[in-house]
Amino acid sequence: MSKSQFGMVGLGTMGRNFLLNVADSGFSCVGYDLDAEKRNLLLEEGKDWDISAAEDPSDLVSKLAAPRTIMLLVPAGKVVDAVIEDLLTHLEKGDLIIDGGNSHFTDTERREAYLAAKGFGFLGVGVSGGEEGARLGPSIMPGGSREYYARVAPIFEAVAAKVDGEPCVAYMGSGSAGHFVKMVHNGIEYAMMQLIAEAYNLLRNAESAGGLDGSEGVDLKVADIFADWNKGKLNSFLIEITATVLKKIDGETGKPLVEMILDTAGQKGTGKWTSQAAMDLGIPIPTIDSAVSMRQISAQKALRVELARRYASGRSINNSQFIINNLHNALYAAFIVAYAQGLSLLQAASEEKNYGLNLDEIAKIWRGGCIIRSAMLEDIRSAFSADRALPNLLLDPKFAGEIGANIPAFRAVVEQFISAGIPAMCFSSALAYIDAFSSERLPANLTQAQRDYFGAHTYQRIDKDGIFHTQEWES
Ligand code: 6PG
Repeated sequence: MSKSQFGMVGLGTMGRNFLLNVADSGFSCVGYDLDAEKRNLLLEEGKDWDISAAEDPSDLVSKLAAPRTIMLLVPAGKVVDAVIEDLLTHLEKGDLIIDGGNSHFTDTERREAYLAAKGFGFLGVGVSGGEEGARLGPSIMPGGSREYYARVAPIFEAVAAKVDGEPCVAYMGSGSAGHFVKMVHNGIEYAMMQLIAEAYNLLRNAESAGGLDGSEGVDLKVADIFADWNKGKLNSFLIEITATVLKKIDGETGKPLVEMILDTAGQKGTGKWTSQAAMDLGIPIPTIDSAVSMRQISAQKALRVELARRYASGRSINNSQFIINNLHNALYAAFIVAYAQGLSLLQAASEEKNYGLNLDEIAKIWRGGCIIRSAMLEDIRSAFSADRALPNLLLDPKFAGEIGANIPAFRAVVEQFISAGIPAMCFSSALAYIDAFSSERLPANLTQAQRDYFGAHTYQRIDKDGIFHTQEWES
């Protein structure tokens, strides 16, 4: 029996579908999972292709042609290390392990160094697109050694989503670049999802105030608004699925399913990691931070219920057409800010960690397959191909013009949120981000004066060079 070209450990939803995609693209494959049911499912679903299942790690390795390429799609964390150890005893120098999960970039750095010292290759690869993406075309963000990447590039290029014939995969950079880029992708994903949730909340309130009775009517109307928005500048996967999700009726109650879902959002940690990394690098990403905070606040349901009794007052809202018109433009501007924050973090990380990231390339491979894909990414790509070192997307002439044109709507919408008492952590932080970065003069002079007062931290002056300290602040 001839040996396989590509191996997979972890045959859960992502691993199995990714492997089926590889097989469907013409490569011979072998998969391994501890769970026999998952192995059987792979064989059943993959019966039309060159796919086999391995009984254990040694069987997996023996079924692969050398030098071997084995991808792991297992839960991030200790499982990845355990699987690597299981494989190591059977591998030969020059074999390549690929971690396709959402691993923390520092784990990726540690694993690459560990495996390199033993003569093995290791790539940390971000894979986005969920189950459907894995099967039909994900966006793939590979990082690590370029030589090892070259070995797997033909497979990744074949399985990745395609936009205008271009595969949504490109070598991101050295070391942990792939997992860092995927982490920031998820941070942007958090921000976009929270912005959409806030827009939905405002629209629901506006539609209810507009006289629509019952939650069903409201949700279907809001779904139509999102579906309409998806035909224009906001065209994106997340807007599209929002319209779809809002239309789903619960079979048991006959109500929109979304109304029956408990309002506490989970998180696996990648959004939080993005905020932590940004803090470490000194890069402000307040809209992503706000999205993480909102998931945390949503999880504190008991406290919210208690506080709602004490604080909730009449939150009325009207003028729904005004809101719908402005909200579209405000959401568009806020999406720009979410991308701008994530990309500015990537610029800084690339410098700090010598990743050698190409932001135009990143925007290119995010145009298809991944969760944050959107029509806007084509313009983002153009912005970074015109100026690869662009420190912030807000500086790009086209986006600066778009933001400028949409600012009045943005302010009107944030005013609506605030006056109605509807939480808008992400909308307001996105607007404040624009306002802060476009303030030639910020009140940081006062902050410096206070720091000097209580801690002799010194300050600089606007009228002469040097470092100053005022001994006697009390005049
Ligand atoms: C993707 C998703 C994927 C996953 C997130 C969910 O790009 O395909 O981002 O990686 O759905 O990890 O993250 P949370 O559980 O933190 O929302």
